[in-house]
Amino acid sequence: MRTQVIKPRIREILSRELPPELLEKLPKHWVRIGDVLLLPLRPELEPYKRRIAEVYAQVLGVKTVLRKGHIRGETRKPDFELLYGNDTITVHIENGVKYKLDVARIMFSPANVKERVRMAEVAKPGELVVDMFAGIGHLSLPMAVHKRARVIVIEKDPYTFRFLVENIWLNGVQDLVTPYNMDNRNFPAENIADRVLMGYVVRTHEFIPKALSIAKDEAIIHYHNTVPERLMPEEPFRTFRKVAGELGYEVEKLNELVIKRYAPGVWHVVVDVKVYKS
Ligand SMILES: C[S@@+](CC[C@H](N)C(=O)[O-])C[C@H]1O[C@@H](n2cnc3c(N)ncnc32)[C@H](O)[C@@H]1O
Repeated sequence: MRTQVIKPRIREILSRELPPELLEKLPKHWVRIGDVLLLPLRPELEPYKRRIAEVYAQVLGVKTVLRKGHIRGETRKPDFELLYGNDTITVHIENGVKYKLDVARIMFSPANVKERVRMAEVAKPGELVVDMFAGIGHLSLPMAVHKRARVIVIEKDPYTFRFLVENIWLNGVQDLVTPYNMDNRNFPAENIADRVLMGYVVRTHEFIPKALSIAKDEAIIHYHNTVPERLMPEEPFRTFRKVAGELGYEVEKLNELVIKRYAPGVWHVVVDVKVYKS
């Protein structure tokens, strides 16, 4: 169904059931991941939430509707309320990459789409990439699928890891991608990667020494972190340069991008850094 007719159709159905003032509060935006819908719902709509979710599901043709919550903790798990349906596992296709995931338990941020697409552009055929915070292969599957880069993916959460392995096969890149279900701090290999992905937030700086030990003497590191606005634009590169300098590396900032607003006054930023062991 075309976008222009979706909202009037939903409104028309619900106008027979909701007080007129609440019709104005119906969500105008939503996120669709595969055939699961994430719907932000205002507290005033609480008494009608299940019926509203049912109507959105029918009109948009999805099997499940979740009410959006927050993404929390070390493993970045989302927090959702199930409003309609019961199956939260789906396959989302983006930029020709298939991502199977449990939307209720694994983060998949629509705001990171540009970064996922960019990773497919920067990768080079045959290079060795190590993805230290692989998730379901968010950033590194595009590199293998589109550029035939060789990738080592490290993911510590066993549930997320199951989907990561399935996604490797679903995308037919099992000859290129090697998965490790472990904490990246225990990853044994050193001096192997042409490129290291550090797609993590809040505490990514703690992992800089490990990333440098995995990188070859000359390599590129995609360093993500969350930064309070008052520390920008010096951060996050300043911290990376400091830690790397203390370990005997020279660094060159190749590129810096703001990915999204993370919290009020805090931004998710990525810096591409070329590192040289001196
Ligand atoms: C926020 S998700 C990001 C996924 C992807 N890198 C991206 O940027 O879209 C971070 C993932 O890193 C995993 N993780 C966190 N700490 C880790 C560690 N020390 N070793 C391996 N994986 C880790 C979490 O379980 C989670 O799946």
